[in-house]
Amino acid sequence: MVAHDLQSPLRQIRAYLDLYLYHYMSSINDKTKEWVNFIDNASKRMQNHIKALLTITKIDNMKHQHEVFSLDELVDKVLSIYTDEIIKYDISIVKNNCSEIKAVKVLTEILLQNLIENAIKFKKEGASQPEIKISLDVTDSFWKILVADNGLGIEEDLQVVIFEKFQKLTNNNSNSGNGLGLFISKRIVEIHNGFINLDSRPNEGSIFEINLPKIKKDHCFSSKDKEYV
Ligand SMILES: Nc1ncnc2c1ncn2[C@@H]1O[C@H](COP(=O)(O)OP(=O)(O)OP(=O)(O)O)[C@@H](O)[C@H]1O
Ligand SMILES: [Mg+2]
Repeated sequence: MVAHDLQSPLRQIRAYLDLYLYHYMSSINDKTKEWVNFIDNASKRMQNHIKALLTITKIDNMKHQHEVFSLDELVDKVLSIYTDEIIKYDISIVKNNCSEIKAVKVLTEILLQNLIENAIKFKKEGASQPEIKISLDVTDSFWKILVADNGLGIEEDLQVVIFEKFQKLTNNNSNSGNGLGLFISKRIVEIHNGFINLDSRPNEGSIFEINLPKIKKDHCFSSKDKEYV
């Protein structure tokens, strides 16, 4: 069964749950409310899982769609999704040298969204002002996109594990995600024949360094191609 097929029964479950709550919320006891809440949360998580799985299946189909675009504009687009959080938590955003790159734009957007969302989610509570720095470093062979935060950081022995499917760490404050964002991000970078480096220290912060190989103007990657500018 494909992920598309899973969405429709789940939508029905959620629709009937909403209907039930609309009619009976005032007459059910606290215990039943708690159970209904569990069903509600579990079905939301399932919906997120399915959306993430759909993204994973789409990634492979888009690997030849490279285009030149402004990283600066894409970063702004992604940041606009998180305007409420950025204002609420007074997050300082620093952008540096985000010029044009050539990559699969729609995948780069998903990648940036995953990294920026994590930087926001895994900030340190009640500490100094949260800060997210997004910058581009252009070398002879690579576009290096850096997303740095001063958040919770990640223990050294967990820095590889977090890129695997459904990995969430227990020592931080989030249980809202699927544990799929970094798995998807790594897949996106690999589709570009690139790699991710992570430099992180607990309680100090993390730097995710995305290395996307530069490719010739009219050139698209196949898995065998390694032709850099
Ligand atoms: N910037 C970060 N700072 C600290 N911990 C992080 C950071 N980014 C990721 N992590 C840790 O790595 C885990 C995996 O990240 P990932 O993005 O894959 O999952 P998620 O954010 O929990 O869920 P999802 O992205 O699917 O909504 C997170 O649960 C978190 O524990
Ligand atoms: Mg995430």
